[in-house]
Amino acid sequence: MSRVALPQYLENAAVAAELQSVILGLAEVSVDISKSLAKGALAGVLGAAGAENVQGEDQKKLDVIANDMIKDALAALPAVRGLASEEEAEVVPCHTAGSYLVTFDPLDGSSNIDINSMVGTIFSVLPHRGEAPVTEQDFLQPGRHQQAAGYVLYGPSVMLVLSTGNGVAMFTLDQDNGTYLLTESEVVIPADAKEFSINMSNQRHWAAPMQAYIADLISGKDGPRAKDFNMRWVAAMVADVHRILCRGGLFTYPWDSRKPDQAGKLRLMYEANPMGFLVEQAGGEIWTPEGKILDIQPEHIHQRVPVILGAANEVALCVDYHQR
Ligand code: F6P
Ligand code: MN
Repeated sequence: MSRVALPQYLENAAVAAELQSVILGLAEVSVDISKSLAKGALAGVLGAAGAENVQGEDQKKLDVIANDMIKDALAALPAVRGLASEEEAEVVPCHTAGSYLVTFDPLDGSSNIDINSMVGTIFSVLPHRGEAPVTEQDFLQPGRHQQAAGYVLYGPSVMLVLSTGNGVAMFTLDQDNGTYLLTESEVVIPADAKEFSINMSNQRHWAAPMQAYIADLISGKDGPRAKDFNMRWVAAMVADVHRILCRGGLFTYPWDSRKPDQAGKLRLMYEANPMGFLVEQAGGEIWTPEGKILDIQPEHIHQRVPVILGAANEVALCVDYHQR
């Protein structure tokens, strides 16, 4: 069976040439990252880097390696005006004539690296605005402005999941020749859910409405929902959202009373927004307890946000518990 390769898909979708170059550049570097991940301990790339990122999180060697690889790949593209990464304290100006700003999480779920479990690269492409050189202010655009977003999931197969604003497509890496081939072109998240995803160990720290909502899911057939729900938690947002795009469900990372001044754990500009773009393009929803995430006006490149995403009806119900 002949499958459509990523460059042909982008051509068929009439994606602007400069944007194509950004997506293809990210795809190409992800193949190299997947090779480093596959070598693992044999390449001496596992373990801690011995430093903290701007969020105060311990960096893994592979966080730093993946960040440097993506940064170099993007900086070589004339279409990229600037980039911002989870692992970079400040935004990085690139080409003054470039049309796009790229934000990324080079290796999401990196605590999974040392247990040979799934991780991913998340990316978001925004139009440039403002004058050169690029400043943080130029990046602070609502997720609604994204021109493209996606992730690469490094799992049993390597998959690129992409939206350029015209639905969501999934590509699988052909390891024999390093090309991404289209394997799913009409990704849809069913409106109703049978499965939820949350770090249950934090239950006692959530706000009362989230505790009540999850308690009602867990009480299953005997509770007010009169329905049993399954639960899954991979602890890599990429992998948990991938499951939702494949077979539906609800994912949430809520606010937590241990850090009352921190909105949530996940970052708006390189986790929630790109995943939100995909989820909405697949017919799902992404909200905080207050409103739609893609409408948030960012105030800071590394800002955090509570996230409720997935099946439209289930997201609406979860938000409703908070707004009652
Ligand atoms: O990037 C943050 C992240 O690693 C996400 O990928 C994941 O969903 C979450 O943190 C896991 O959090 P926890 O450590 O609470 O399971
Ligand atoms: Mn992450």
